[in-house]
Amino acid sequence: MNFDEAKLELQQLLNKVSPPEVGKLLDWMKNSDELDHLLLDNNKLILQNIADDLRPRLPLEAMFPSEAAAHQKMQQCARPTVHVDSFLYSDEQVDALCEEGAMSRNYCLSCGSFRTAPLEFISHSFSATELQFLFQNLLPDLSGRTVVDVGSRLGAVLYAGYLYSSASRLFGLELNEDFIRLQNDIVHKYKFSDRVQVLHADVCTQEVLLSSTDVLIMNNVFEYFMESSQQVRAWSFIMQTFRRRGSLLVTVPSLQESLSALQPGWVEELPVDYDVYLGRDTDPEALRQIHLYRIM
Ligand SMILES: C[S@@+](CC[C@H](N)C(=O)[O-])C[C@H]1O[C@@H](n2cnc3c(N)ncnc32)[C@H](O)[C@@H]1O
Repeated sequence: MNFDEAKLELQQLLNKVSPPEVGKLLDWMKNSDELDHLLLDNNKLILQNIADDLRPRLPLEAMFPSEAAAHQKMQQCARPTVHVDSFLYSDEQVDALCEEGAMSRNYCLSCGSFRTAPLEFISHSFSATELQFLFQNLLPDLSGRTVVDVGSRLGAVLYAGYLYSSASRLFGLELNEDFIRLQNDIVHKYKFSDRVQVLHADVCTQEVLLSSTDVLIMNNVFEYFMESSQQVRAWSFIMQTFRRRGSLLVTVPSLQESLSALQPGWVEELPVDYDVYLGRDTDPEALRQIHLYRIM
C-alpha cells in the first residue's frame, strides 16, 4: 500500500471513530512510541550490527591517535568539544554511558565545584537515522548511478547506500589508513564488495572518478581535518572536476557556509522536505543541516 492509499484508509477509519476520541487517537499516533517498531526495518538492524562490530575496535571517542591534526583542531574550538560518533552511539547509549560515568555531557568550570557547563558534542559520522533520510527521502532512485562519499571514515554512508539504495557503485575515499582497514573488514564481513569499494586516497587525486560520479556526498569533510588554505584548494579541485550536468551534491553544512570565500555558481540548491518522522532518534536540526544541490 502506498502513501496515498494508506492516507485514504486512515481517513476512512478516523471517520468511524467517535468524535471525542479522534483527538486522543491522533495525539497517540503523533507522540507515543508504540508505533516505532514499524519503522525498524531489517536494514536498520544490519547498520546496528555493523556499529556493534566497530565500537570495540575504536576508543570511546571514536578517533584514532593517527588523527593528530583533528585532535589538535578540536582542542582549538572556542568551547570544550568532544567527539561522540552518532553512527556508533545513539542518544540512549550516550545517556547510559553518562550514567555509568564513562562519558559526560558537562565540564567543570572550576575544578571540584558544582559550576558546570555543557560540552559541545560533534559527530564525524552521520547517524543511522540521517543515513536513512539521505537514501530514502533526500536522494532519487539511484539505479545505475555511481555514488562517492568523500572522507568515508567508518564507511557508514557506503553501508547505508548499499542497503537502502540501488546505486550500482559506491566508492569511499579516505585519507586515514586506520579507517580504510576498518571499512575493508566490514565490506568483507557483510559481503558488500560487489558494489562497494574503498580507496585510500586524497579526493584531490581523483579527477577521473569525480568526473564520472553521479552523486557526491560531503559530510563535514574538511573542517576538522584540513587547514583553511588546503580546504580552499580541495573545494576548487571539486568545483573544477565534479561538473557533469545533472549530477547531485550532498553537503553538510551548506555550501554557503563552507565556501564563503568561493562562490558556488556551478550548482543550484534543490528544495528538500525535512518534515519526516523516522523514529524517536530523529533530530530535525541535524536533518536540516543536510543540503542537496544539482550541477548546472
Ligand atoms: C566528518 S568525516 C565524514 C564521515 C562520513 N562521510 C560520514 O558521513 O559518516 C570526514 C573524513 O574525511 C576524511 N578526509 C579529510 N580530508 C580528506 C581528503 N582530502 N580526501 C579524503 N578524505 C579526507 C577524514 O580523514 C575524515 O575521516
